[in-house]
Amino acid sequence: MPTARPVIQFEGVSKRFWPGPVEAVRDVSLDVNEGEIVTLLGPSGCGKTTTLRLMAGFEIPDAGTIRIGGREAAGPRAWLPPEKRGVGMVFQDYALFPHLTVGENVMFGLDALRRGDRKDRARDVLRVLDLGSHFNRYPHELSGGQQQRVALARAIAPRPVVVLMDEPFSNLDAHLRDQVRDEVVGILREAGMTSIFVSHDQRDALAISDRIVVMNRGRVEQVGSPREIYRHPESVFVATFVGRTNLLAGVVQNQNGCVLTDFGSFCRVDRLGMPGGSQVMVAVRPDGFLPAEGGQLRGRILTTTFTGAQVEAEVAIPSALGGDRRLIVHLPPSAGFAPGDEVAFRLDADYASVVRNSCQVLDRGEGASTPVSPVAAALASS
Ligand SMILES: Nc1ncnc2c1ncn2[C@@H]1O[C@H](COP(=O)(O)OP(=O)(O)O)[C@@H](O)[C@H]1O
Ligand SMILES: [Mg+2]
Repeated sequence: MPTARPVIQFEGVSKRFWPGPVEAVRDVSLDVNEGEIVTLLGPSGCGKTTTLRLMAGFEIPDAGTIRIGGREAAGPRAWLPPEKRGVGMVFQDYALFPHLTVGENVMFGLDALRRGDRKDRARDVLRVLDLGSHFNRYPHELSGGQQQRVALARAIAPRPVVVLMDEPFSNLDAHLRDQVRDEVVGILREAGMTSIFVSHDQRDALAISDRIVVMNRGRVEQVGSPREIYRHPESVFVATFVGRTNLLAGVVQNQNGCVLTDFGSFCRVDRLGMPGGSQVMVAVRPDGFLPAEGGQLRGRILTTTFTGAQVEAEVAIPSALGGDRRLIVHLPPSAGFAPGDEVAFRLDADYASVVRNSCQVLDRGEGASTPVSPVAAALASS
């Protein structure tokens, strides 16, 4: 990012709905910089759409300040209505006017221009989006992917400072989806358009974003690049919501800064500055287990599933507490491992990170609800 000029700034923004109250957005602070593509990612009901509507001016915050292009758009002293914010919005269902042609749909938001200029601008934008020959068609005569691009054309034709897109790919057929997504993002990048997407799909978020904002129950859990979010989640929530992960309870050791778990001591993991004795989870992605002679973890393969790029295997690893723990690991398909094989693994620290062991746990994080292991606790304090 050559410049870091913020286009959207949230400072302590909250929004409640009544009755309830439902705390849809809680104390959210966030900067989106010029030219960035940012995705708000989180489960249904976590406040993504409300955050987007607050940006667009369709909701009034109860607390906090929203600045757009450096100008206060909502706050204790200011209110800018949606049409004065320079924000383009693509709604989840596209919201095209069915009785207007493609060209008329795109010209709809251009009343600030002279009549002739409106048509020229609409034609230009539609040409860029590869819809030049569809000017006089009606929305129902277009495919889902084309309708999506008309909605985008309508949003960007007035040259907004930022375009907001709410789950824009969720209505597309699976086979179209990735292609449309890559086209749309390619166009936005080429135009240098600051863009904010909302998604509950971690695949989309990882694929298209400069930065991801992970939301949970109205709050921002973590902000980071796709790599940071995937490789170094900071909470159990992020670790389990974004991708598959294995959670191992552990204790930060005083002497060497490693983390002691029932499966031995993990070193070179980022400890988030937590002091010795802290109870933590080590989140290890399935990609973080590398088959290696003499590796620290030794287990037996229970099942293997070929997924194309890799083999996903369930491996039973004996725990220091007795019994086995089942971990999900990714193996190279060429290695030819099969159920019943004994394999030793070493851990790739790039795919392991320490997460705070204090927040709500999703069902998928098997073992995540186990408090810190008594064995590890005893060894750590000795
Ligand atoms: N207009 C509204 N009135 C009452 N509750 C609402 C309204 N809009 C959203 N909510 C509630 O606020 C929470 C966040 O909703 P939303 O922002 O739509 O989440 P998401 O887009 O992440 O699914 C949900 O509990 C939802 O039911
Ligand atoms: Mg939503």
